[in-house]
Amino acid sequence: MVGGATMTEYDVTLEWPDGGTDAIPVDPQETVLEAAQRAGVRLPYDCRKGTCITCVGRLLEIENGDTDVGADGTDQPPDPADAFSYRRSPAALTDRERADGYVLLCIASPQTDCRLEVGPRVRSEVGDSPWA
Ligand code: FES
Repeated sequence: MVGGATMTEYDVTLEWPDGGTDAIPVDPQETVLEAAQRAGVRLPYDCRKGTCITCVGRLLEIENGDTDVGADGTDQPPDPADAFSYRRSPAALTDRERADGYVLLCIASPQTDCRLEVGPRVRSEVGDSPWA
């Protein structure tokens, strides 16, 4: 046994506007941004405190393919509450934006494998932060 403890990592796949993807292993104690930087993936960021919204991504899919499946059969975004825990309050997002799958990657740590859309298009879909 090496290190004495097993470390769970989740596979987080970042999907870029050009269709490219980056798959990065993320420890549940670290944020997606921290893991991306460790892996040499350049995610946009600024405040790193959940207030500026620069790092926003949108959850596309969570483990087991649970995507876009609402209880009533209509298209629904996967619930970010099932996929991420936040290090602090994601103040830059409205409740509606959170419900729609937007996630602040500078303070969000994965609790499952998941796939996220990232990049300027996602940023343009959400409003400006009241705290920026
Ligand atoms: S970098 Fe500012 S909210 Fe994430």
